[in-house]
Amino acid sequence: YKRVTVKTLVDMKARGEKISMLTAYDYTMAKIVDGAGVDVMLVGDSASNVMAGYETTLPITLDHMIYHASSVVRAANRALIVVDLPFGSYQSDPKEALRSAIRIMKESRAHSVKLEGGKEIKESIKRILNAGIPVMGHLGLTPQSIYKFGTYTVRAKEEQEAKRLIADAKMLERIGCYAIVLEKIPAQLAKEVAESVSIPIIGIGAGPDVDGQVLVLHDMLGMTHEFHPRFLRRYLNLYEDMTTAIGQYVDDVKTADFPNEEEKY
Ligand code: KIV
Ligand code: NA
Repeated sequence: YKRVTVKTLVDMKARGEKISMLTAYDYTMAKIVDGAGVDVMLVGDSASNVMAGYETTLPITLDHMIYHASSVVRAANRALIVVDLPFGSYQSDPKEALRSAIRIMKESRAHSVKLEGGKEIKESIKRILNAGIPVMGHLGLTPQSIYKFGTYTVRAKEEQEAKRLIADAKMLERIGCYAIVLEKIPAQLAKEVAESVSIPIIGIGAGPDVDGQVLVLHDMLGMTHEFHPRFLRRYLNLYEDMTTAIGQYVDDVKTADFPNEEEKY
């Protein structure tokens, strides 16, 4: 396999080849995701929900993110690895943002970072880019700002917010971001954004007319089952399959069916 780089992704957009991206947080799952041919693995701060069981993405720390990222890096042979800068690790000033990004790059050996927001974090993104660290942007629904918005509903439905989002996307391209995630916005707006920049737009709940798609791994595998937004396509129902398998194991132990003759030394 040839390693996917930030340049590969920009070339893919130019060729019209769609980009596949999934989250990954640990070695074993990342090995499967990478081996299956996913182009980009995102060590998302959704680890806060999926791995740690917090209600929001806010509590996860930089140290936690580095732990997850280094596990994913050890598993990957092909995919580009992007790591979320967690809440609180980049908002106060550009120097802190750069320090956090450097820690991720050095300690996890991932290939790039992702930050939520537009013009309000422009200087931080520039600082990180100036250090040679590739940055992926993230606009639309930005879960680290959940307490500002109050809900996880579709963003940028109003004209003003839509205009602001397009301006932010253009700005992110201009300062040098290599791609942008657009989360939960109208498909028509996402299409417009994808057409107005030459860097790849990766959508989640942003419709089909973008350059790639991302989903949370545990959601698309159906391991989580209390979350069913419209944009989520479930490829397996692992919640049920695993519950059945584990229930069977419990049964086998209780009835002394396991282990059998062949399973002992
Ligand atoms: O943390 C995450 O999983 C993300 C994706 C949903 C884009 O940021
Ligand atoms: Na995230």
